[in-house]
Amino acid sequence: THEIDFNDELLAWYDRNAREMPWRIGPADRSSGMRPDPYRVWLSEVMLQQTTVAAVRDYFLRFTSRWPTVESLAAAPDEQVMGEWAGLGYYARARNLLKCARVVVESHDGCFPDSHDELLNLPGIGPYTAAAIAAIAFDRPETVLDGNVERVVARLYDIHDPLPGSKPQLKQRAAALTPAVRPGDYAQAVMDLGATVCTPRSPACGICPMRTRCRSQAAGTQADLPRKTPK
Ligand code: ADE
Repeated sequence: THEIDFNDELLAWYDRNAREMPWRIGPADRSSGMRPDPYRVWLSEVMLQQTTVAAVRDYFLRFTSRWPTVESLAAAPDEQVMGEWAGLGYYARARNLLKCARVVVESHDGCFPDSHDELLNLPGIGPYTAAAIAAIAFDRPETVLDGNVERVVARLYDIHDPLPGSKPQLKQRAAALTPAVRPGDYAQAVMDLGATVCTPRSPACGICPMRTRCRSQAAGTQADLPRKTPK
């Protein structure tokens, strides 16, 4: 079907073009079925909640060299963690980070739970982050819908209804695209496509692996999508 073709093309593109990030594992490990450390996935996703990949990178490296495991982070004094967080902003995230680490150690034997619903019960983890961790760390077929994914899906299906009202429709389309194989790589592939090819302005449609299936590319509407209801 259309959806399966989409996934194959996108995963093949990801295998060649995945961005290197300190919380990701390399292509050789990916193809041997290895998964990234849930602690590192969780830490990166919390840091990325309101911050760009470029700004997060150095903070992530400092945190993980100082506290390489959830046990070590849970045992850290609050003021040291708040000190390392300084500059990232949204300090409630850092306080919830510590709370979450301590709950994982005290109530889950130091292992992050692997389901969306259990992850959602942890401090600082909302629906987006729960889906991202379940998909990326545990290869669960969860639908990860961030701004990048909304843009890719709106363009792929030439959806002109404006955000935020179109969210349920975009989520439904995104869920229908989520594959049973390699859902974690797939989630990151859509995010990378949105960040590097299907960009908000001047998308690089000429090199897009989806171009022959993209309805907005066929209609010439991609630069206008996704539409947004004026505030
Ligand atoms: N933004 C948030 N999480 C991300 C991830 N895992 N890969 C790329 N961009 C992201």
